[in-house]
Amino acid sequence: MSDNTIENLMSEQRTFDPSREMEQKILDQANLTAEKYEQACRMATDSPEEFWADRARDLLHWTRDFRTTLESDPEKHEYKWFSGGRLNASYNCLDRHLENGRRNKAALIWQGEPEEEVRVFTYHMLHRKVCRFANVLKKIGVSKGDRVAIYLPMVPELVISMLACARIGAVHSVIFAGFSAVSLQNRIIDCDAKILIAADGVLRGGKKIPLKRNVDEALFECPSVEQVIMVKRTGDEIDFIEGRDTWWHEEISGPDIEDYCKPESMRSADPLFILHTSGSTGKAKGVVHSTGGYMTATAHTTQWVFDLRDDDVHWCTADIGWITGHSYTVYGPLALGATTLLFEGVPTYPRPDRYWEIINRYGVNIFYTTPTALRALRREGTQWTEKYDLSTLRILGSVGEPINPEVWIWFHEHVGKGKLPLLDTWWQTETGSILISPLPYVGKLKPGSTGKPLPGISAKIVNSDGSDAEANEGGHLLITEPWPGMLTDIHNDRARYNRTYFERFPGSYETGDGARVDEDGDYWIMGRLDDVINVSGHRLGTTEIESALIAHPDVTEAAVVGIPHEIKGQTVYAYVTLRSGLDEDDEMRTVLREWVSQKIGPIAVPETIQFSEGLPKTRSGKIMRRILRRIAVGENDLGDTTTLSDASVIADLIEGQKELFE
Ligand code: WT7
Repeated sequence: MSDNTIENLMSEQRTFDPSREMEQKILDQANLTAEKYEQACRMATDSPEEFWADRARDLLHWTRDFRTTLESDPEKHEYKWFSGGRLNASYNCLDRHLENGRRNKAALIWQGEPEEEVRVFTYHMLHRKVCRFANVLKKIGVSKGDRVAIYLPMVPELVISMLACARIGAVHSVIFAGFSAVSLQNRIIDCDAKILIAADGVLRGGKKIPLKRNVDEALFECPSVEQVIMVKRTGDEIDFIEGRDTWWHEEISGPDIEDYCKPESMRSADPLFILHTSGSTGKAKGVVHSTGGYMTATAHTTQWVFDLRDDDVHWCTADIGWITGHSYTVYGPLALGATTLLFEGVPTYPRPDRYWEIINRYGVNIFYTTPTALRALRREGTQWTEKYDLSTLRILGSVGEPINPEVWIWFHEHVGKGKLPLLDTWWQTETGSILISPLPYVGKLKPGSTGKPLPGISAKIVNSDGSDAEANEGGHLLITEPWPGMLTDIHNDRARYNRTYFERFPGSYETGDGARVDEDGDYWIMGRLDDVINVSGHRLGTTEIESALIAHPDVTEAAVVGIPHEIKGQTVYAYVTLRSGLDEDDEMRTVLREWVSQKIGPIAVPETIQFSEGLPKTRSGKIMRRILRRIAVGENDLGDTTTLSDASVIADLIEGQKELFE
């Protein structure tokens, strides 16, 4: 064991230098050596456009080279990367690997939830499937620019659908299979999808969860959807709607479906996909990503941050329903011609060794996961990590929420055996790819810090008035220069795009996160500054949950805050006012939880529901969530309460909280 013991890491300096631990061979063969890193930083600072142009040309196959690296109209917050260039994302992830020696290499390894269910696709096999499914889409009338909604669990058909859309220039919109019928419907309506690809159900924790009911309910009011293609997963009996629903396995094996489909030549700025994410108002935002910029950014970060090498098995555990899965299960690793692993199940079923067993079984090299999973696994004890030889691992990563230093150290010690680089990567759905992260063999790692902005990324911390924050002073995290992976729009809502990201701090992109930078220039993310809660790494808007609660006929008012939770990071705490005369009891709580689950999905269900007669509001009627957050955690000091319109509600709220936790 190295001298990087827990005591050492937890001591004053709390740093760790992986380059001292790694074999020289690994350092020498790195995609980004320490020396190359210095060069990259210089180039990215001196001539950023040249830097990005080089990356775009090195990493991707362009059927027509681009004329301009960045065409920007700052007034309109319009940033077009690689204008004049043409490419196809599916070609870049598949076809070119058929000719460069990777044809028979595993592109995708799928581990189903049942241990014995495994499917492996070589590049040749995946290419063929994608082509055939692209031909199915064409046959049923999908063409370039059309939107296709995908509501699938973690099965290979999800990856195939995405790449098939990309192949013909259709815009995919993946909707997390844990979302309810209402959320599914909202997202389909928002992107005006023509086709829906869904499954009969999901296997999760040894249970079958039906999905088709949600599909039928959602489509009740989605006139744009012409056809539903159903993947058979659980095999449960489902209602089939004649003329609308067809089976995937029948469509793809149709005698008129050919094995090859010509990739559509796309402009760099053409949208590759839409992905919805929660914001601080009720409606989810349809974040739009471009083809050329996004593909450059994901391939670039996969190569430099994860140091992905040709014979690596890359495993990102995130669901593809979130951006992490888009960028680091599908597009990044496949663009680089690596082997990507897709796991259908959960980390603790049937035993809490599932992750370690899979790493061992497939010889995983890069393992990218979430603090929430790690917290749950840490609680199970170290006997599970000790049971397996994890020596193929070379790089560990974490994403989605702040990772507590204790959990960081546990991951580093028990999975990385005290030796491996552990990268706490910061980014967002909107940023498309990692922006702030340590690099595996460059500089020191500090548990709890996300390191520095990557070469080519400019960030800073400012106070509310826009002035620069001092070292270690918390403030708003801004990105001050455009980057290729940035969102290009919010679907159908340009005004919201402008307002959310560019108007408050002119000239910069506003992340919505609070952060500080220490004296070494390392970033420490402090969490959201807006009304967004992060439950198990999933973003939920407080307003979204409040709207759902208020939509219940028995509820007159609701306010929702996030409170710290040992495993999930944060959980939902709801204050609810009922119509008078109704019983404020557990039965009602169950009804409301079930209601939220149906309106949004199980992840949004309030862990705690406190009934209250009134809520603290400003004179203009704005709910003061700051006070509610403090009451929810039993804090005595409520801060400034002078702006309250009616301070008398406070005592009742405090009383109510105490009763709940007695
Ligand atoms: C929000 C973005 C990026 C993919 C997963 C989430 C939080 C993300 C970190 C990190 C602390 C983090 C931020 C951010 N976040 N990574 N390493 N440390 N917080 O994507 O759903 O768009 O959420 O997740 O608050 O704004 P997302």
